[in-house]
This record gives sequence, C-alpha cells and structure tokens, in this order.
Amino acid sequence: MAMRNQVGALSFVGSFPRNWPELNMPEVAFAGRSNVGKSSALNTLLNSKKAARVSGTPGRTQAINLFKVGSGCVFADLPGYGFAKVPEAVQDAWKGMIESYLSEREDLRLVIILVDARRKPQEMDGMLLYALTESDIPSLVVATKVDKLKKQQMQKSLRAIRKEFNLAAGQPIPFSSLSGVGRDEVWDRIEQACR
Ligand code: GTP
Ligand code: MG
Repeated sequence: MAMRNQVGALSFVGSFPRNWPELNMPEVAFAGRSNVGKSSALNTLLNSKKAARVSGTPGRTQAINLFKVGSGCVFADLPGYGFAKVPEAVQDAWKGMIESYLSEREDLRLVIILVDARRKPQEMDGMLLYALTESDIPSLVVATKVDKLKKQQMQKSLRAIRKEFNLAAGQPIPFSSLSGVGRDEVWDRIEQACR
C-alpha cells in the first residue's frame, strides 16, 4: 500500500537532541528557517492537525522529532535555523546537531528544505543544500505558504528561488499547508525516496 495511505498508523517515536534511535527504516527529514512551516507541512502530509507541534513562537523546536509513518518510513522534524532572536550559542548548538544528524543517520534518504515562497532565498538554505550535495544526500526544495501569493507573484518567486539555488526544473515545488497544494507531488518524491 502507498505510504501516504498508511498515515493512520502514524506514531511519534520521540524528541532527541542526540543519540537518535536506530529504526532501520528509510528516513525523510524536514529542514528550513524557523517559522517557515516545517511542522505544518508535516501535519498536512500526515493528515493530522497535531502530529508535529506548530508554534507561534519561532525557534521552539530545539530537538529532532521522529515519527514513524506506517511501516514504510520515518519523518524527522528538524529544528529551524536562522531566527535572529536566538543567541549565537544556540545557533552553534543547532549547527552541531544538524552536522551530527546528517553524518550519523545512515537511513536518511531525502532532506526536504522548506523555503518561504514570499521571501528571498536565505543564506542558510544555500549552505544546507551545499552540505547535502557534498555528502551525496538527495534534497528537495519546497516553497511553502504559496496561498499568500497571487499566481504571477508565485511564478516569479519560484523562478528566483530556482535560479538562486541552481535547482533542477520542477523545483521548488509550490506548497501550502492551508490549501494542500503540492501535497501529492511531495508525497510522490517521498515514496520514491523510501522505496
Ligand atoms: P519552528 O519549529 O519554530 O522552526 O517553525 P516551523 O517551521 O515548524 O513552522 P510552523 O509549522 O510552526 O508554522 C509557523 C507559522 O506559519 C504558523 O503560524 C503556521 O500557521 C504558519 N504557516 C505554516 N504553513 C503555512 C502555509 O502553508 N500557509 C500559511 N498561510 N501559513 C502557514
Ligand atoms: Mg516546527
């Protein structure tokens, strides 16, 4: 059965800043700037209002939250980066955590980088993409909150993001956690990665 139809069997594994448990299942991670909508995107993909906590306060998620989606794969909700009000020490801790996660997680098949469709591409997004390419970890850029843009603005913004990050045609994938736009396309990529 397709993974997207198994989300009824969703289970929260736990929240871990380190010592991530060995689950022996393909894993997909969700990364992006604080407040970009990672947890919301996860909830939308999982048809759940509350699987991942959506925060009004940016920078809330400080550990990596793992979810088992049926018996098919694991979703990892990574803490957001680049929130200006977070002290430098916290940002350094974030970098350390992400570096260990990316190097230690052998079943990691795909990192989905969420970017805000309304904003200029962020430096950290580019750095993360570069790190993934260097480590041969597949990535997928998804532009979220497209419900806040008119169609023309959206197209313009998608082009700018594609150009800035030198992305393949078809990326970034336009996405909205509110309307569900892009949900099927992102699931296609997740299922491909986890097969
Ligand atoms: P951190 O865990 O703090 O890094 O944030 P996050 O990236 O997980 O973002 P979260 O999902 O908590 O969403 C942040 C805010 O953006 C919330 O107020 C959401 O309701 C809002 N939001 C998320 N996705 C969308 C979207 O597709 N459209 C709109 N209009 N709002 C969204
Ligand atoms: Mg979050």
